Amino acid sequence: MEVLKLVHSYLAYVVLAVLFVAVGNAILGMASNRIFNLHKDFRISLFALILSHIQLLIGLILFFVSTSGLKAIQAVGMGGLNSQARLLAVEHPLINIVAIVLITIGWSRHKKFMEGQKKFRSIAIFYGLGLLFILSRIPWAQWWG
Ligand code: HEM
Repeated sequence: MEVLKLVHSYLAYVVLAVLFVAVGNAILGMASNRIFNLHKDFRISLFALILSHIQLLIGLILFFVSTSGLKAIQAVGMGGLNSQARLLAVEHPLINIVAIVLITIGWSRHKKFMEGQKKFRSIAIFYGLGLLFILSRIPWAQWWG
């Protein structure tokens, strides 16, 4: 359990960094109207997709085994959670699942398009929204505290 939490905590830096790079790259690609490159653009976006899915899996396990997840809800009930506990047990898990669904949609959509411009736009919008969702519900105080 402790080791999973540690992995989730360190992988968070990598996931956030790679998502930033993928979104930045997609915005620059859109702005310069260049072709979507298999060696660079495809790989960066796929890498961000895979890492966020690994983080999702670890998060899901944590939700069931950690005392800050489901057990916290069961102990005091939804209404009994203070804002910090609610962030960990409810908001962070829910919002991150939505974020990763958005990222997955962005990935699937980009594959349907032929034009680089549309591929970049799909990644920029959906990965960008996903990243904002994730950032909005990071338990910063616990992570850096
Ligand atoms: C890309 C998505 C995600 C990122 C960047 C992320 C990041 C983090 C960070 C930084 C922490 C604090 C770790 C610490 O205190 O050292 C945390 C805790 C936690 N996360 Fe995530 N997370 C993500 C997705 C998820 C998902 C999808 C779930 C569940 C479905 C989840 C469940 C949890 C739980 C239960 C904790 C509290 C663990 C504990 O304190 O015992 N996370 N997450």
